[in-house]
Amino acid sequence: MDGTIYLKDYTPYPFDLDQVHLTFRLAPSATRVLARLHLTPKGEGASLHLDGEELKLISLGIDGTALQPADYLLTETGLTVHAAALPEGAFTLETEVEIAPNANTALEGLYMSNGMYCTQCEAEGFRKITFYPDRPDVMARFHVRIEGDLPVLLSNGNAGASGEGWAEWDDPWPKPAYLFALVAGDLVATSGTFTTKSGLEVDLNIWVRPGDEDRCDFALESLKRSMVWDEEAYGREYDLSVFNLVAVDDFNMGAMENKGLNIFNSKLVLASPETATDTDYVRIEAVIGHEYFHNWTGDRITCRDWFQLCLKEGLTVFRDQSFTRDVRLGPVKRIEDAATLRTRQFREDQGPLAHPPRPNHYREINNFYTVTVYEKGAEIVGMLKRLAGDEAYRQALDLYFERHDGQACTIEDWLKVFEDVTGRDLTQFALWYTSAGTPHLKVTDAYADGRYTLTFRQSTPPTPGEPEKAPRHIPIAVGLLDLQGREVLSTQLLEMTEEEQSFSFDVAERPVPSILRDFSAPVVLQREQSPEEQAFLLAHDTDGFNRWEAGRSLAQRTLIAMTKGARPAQGYIDAIGNLLADDTLEPAFTAHCLALPGEDELAQALFAAGETPDPDAIHSARSALSRAIATAHEARLSALYDALEVKGPYSPDAEPAGKRGLRLACLSLLTKLDNGARAKALFDAADNMTESFGALSILIRAGLGDEASETFRARWQDNRLVMDKWFMVQVAACPPEDAVAKAEALSQDQAFDWKNPNRFRSLIGGLTANHAGFHAKDGSGYAFLADWLIKLDPMNPQTAARMSTSFETWRRYDSARQNLIREELTRISQTRGLSRDLSEMSQRLLG
Ligand code: PHE
Ligand code: ZN
Repeated sequence: MDGTIYLKDYTPYPFDLDQVHLTFRLAPSATRVLARLHLTPKGEGASLHLDGEELKLISLGIDGTALQPADYLLTETGLTVHAAALPEGAFTLETEVEIAPNANTALEGLYMSNGMYCTQCEAEGFRKITFYPDRPDVMARFHVRIEGDLPVLLSNGNAGASGEGWAEWDDPWPKPAYLFALVAGDLVATSGTFTTKSGLEVDLNIWVRPGDEDRCDFALESLKRSMVWDEEAYGREYDLSVFNLVAVDDFNMGAMENKGLNIFNSKLVLASPETATDTDYVRIEAVIGHEYFHNWTGDRITCRDWFQLCLKEGLTVFRDQSFTRDVRLGPVKRIEDAATLRTRQFREDQGPLAHPPRPNHYREINNFYTVTVYEKGAEIVGMLKRLAGDEAYRQALDLYFERHDGQACTIEDWLKVFEDVTGRDLTQFALWYTSAGTPHLKVTDAYADGRYTLTFRQSTPPTPGEPEKAPRHIPIAVGLLDLQGREVLSTQLLEMTEEEQSFSFDVAERPVPSILRDFSAPVVLQREQSPEEQAFLLAHDTDGFNRWEAGRSLAQRTLIAMTKGARPAQGYIDAIGNLLADDTLEPAFTAHCLALPGEDELAQALFAAGETPDPDAIHSARSALSRAIATAHEARLSALYDALEVKGPYSPDAEPAGKRGLRLACLSLLTKLDNGARAKALFDAADNMTESFGALSILIRAGLGDEASETFRARWQDNRLVMDKWFMVQVAACPPEDAVAKAEALSQDQAFDWKNPNRFRSLIGGLTANHAGFHAKDGSGYAFLADWLIKLDPMNPQTAARMSTSFETWRRYDSARQNLIREELTRISQTRGLSRDLSEMSQRLLG
């Protein structure tokens, strides 16, 4: 009725579509698209419905004969050819439409970015290119001809014939329309080759705008590493003779896995030591891996409908996380992933936007490319792997590829391969996909007569539309330590299926438990634990994740007490001292231990504990704790800062990057005491972006960044990606009381090109990342965000809707702030002509 789409209403498409011929006659304001679709009805009497939006129909015919107006119905959303107008058996439908790529500001369908033509079709953008059954379960072979006066003309698959101003492409693999892509422009390639295990020679090209070609080497190497890794870890080989990857400056998301023609946001391709940070390098490699891995988990096996999105995304994120761990970061990768999940996905689960990894209804599918679908989806795959074991996991994946290659599948198909391989019944496990919310796990323990017993109780707070929650199947990895820190029980996987369940172990003395090792399930662990025990685990746990976790809980505990006026806990300060003195630890690990929980994360924890977070108190507590750590350990931090200097030419490898990370963490603390002397020196001396930008951020955070900011801007004003960082840090890191004014001033800056999604996200997202700044008592941060969402929505609804999630935490705060946010959300939802995207979001946010 209100346009809501339900999973239960799924019906197969009544026609087979095996071949598609497309001809593009490119022109910025009037591109012609000719389509020939070879259709075969599956049964009798069905009319033919094709999706189509914002298309000017030029001609329409079947098997060479034009259709008459009475034969079809044309609406805002598509074209229906009446059954009576269709021939019996197979036929070819021919359409010609006109579209205006230069007027396409939504960046969905065919659009232009700096003179280059580019497409984005996932999820439902192909319907803005031509009339078509734009749904992922319709898979066809695409033959494409591009005509245009541009040097480079690309589409999916293998290159066919070409000449002056035209090129043909043939994709031998059937695919849904959302994987279609076209790129045309003045582009240059950084090229290489790769030979697959079976001996297929593949040409690799990274295409960028002239001038950017000196920043492509890392992307090319990352692509090769991805190809090797997928062969080794999953036995998956590439299947075309060319792999093209294009960087584009205007892009709503990170990147897109179009078959044989991946399209990337340029910030996830371009890297040089001077312009990209260590974090950027890691991210670039991870996303190149992610899109490449989609070739099998997404393209060869795709989704039946958009409710199944996490079938491809959860699995592919799990694969890219494993890749980054294997080729770059090692065990600290798990700490990073778990920390992200908790800050971002638990936050989503705690608010009005909570939804299952496989939702059962939506109005606008673009609003479901969420941390729940992606990151929680990846955690679910991780749990399946833990439950099955490494070997059975690999067998299940082999079976998945063998059984479902070339198909459009469901979560049920995916779980079935695990059931078939392991003989398990995964009915209860499936709740992880079909139900929303984060389970809370209360743990108590007892020791008597040489038996140690752990008792778990699970409960999941209600989420929108799901008041009652059934118990989940939770894999809990547990180890036991003796009082000397030796393992008396190595890691065991406990399987919890009941609401309450106990597990016992024979041990000679009462042990210290290490529970939920490696973050074995996405749950909130609740356990009464003394600070002494947390400090003990921080010093001794043999599980790296739990060791970090113990420090994290200690930090959180003292920070929360500090928001209520307590002084920093000496036990925590001492524990940090021990950590800094321990030179057996990896620098990257120590850096993670030094990083205090973020302000938003603390607000989340307070709200979960039934309290009302005060953003200013949180900000002050965090700042005071940093100062206390710095004061207590100044000598050690200073010595470490000097010792960690990385000499020689920059390399993004994990080892030097880990050192730089820890060194910057030390610098951030020392800046509390030295009035910015070290940070200024580093800023002046740095020959790489990691240190230059790291020092700049630290100076800004300390309120000492004005001069460095200007120098930085003057140096980088012609580099879009670096200037995005600059916009972001001005507002994200500045003292909270300045944040809104700063954001307002920068939004007037001539370099603030708000129609570019990266630039928009930098500034507006910079403000929302400044927790206490965004939540300014007077509501100015809320009004600023709402104004910009309303302004962006008619141009780019996808990005506007995405950015509106900054409001999702509104119920955490005091009633004055709640009222202010509610007013802004109401103002947004009442805006005339609001997009479906932002209208759905504002309504869900209001709850
Ligand atoms: N499918 C892309 C990915 O995860 C993300 C994306 C979704 C990009 C929608 C554009 C539009 O790799
Ligand atoms: Zn993806």
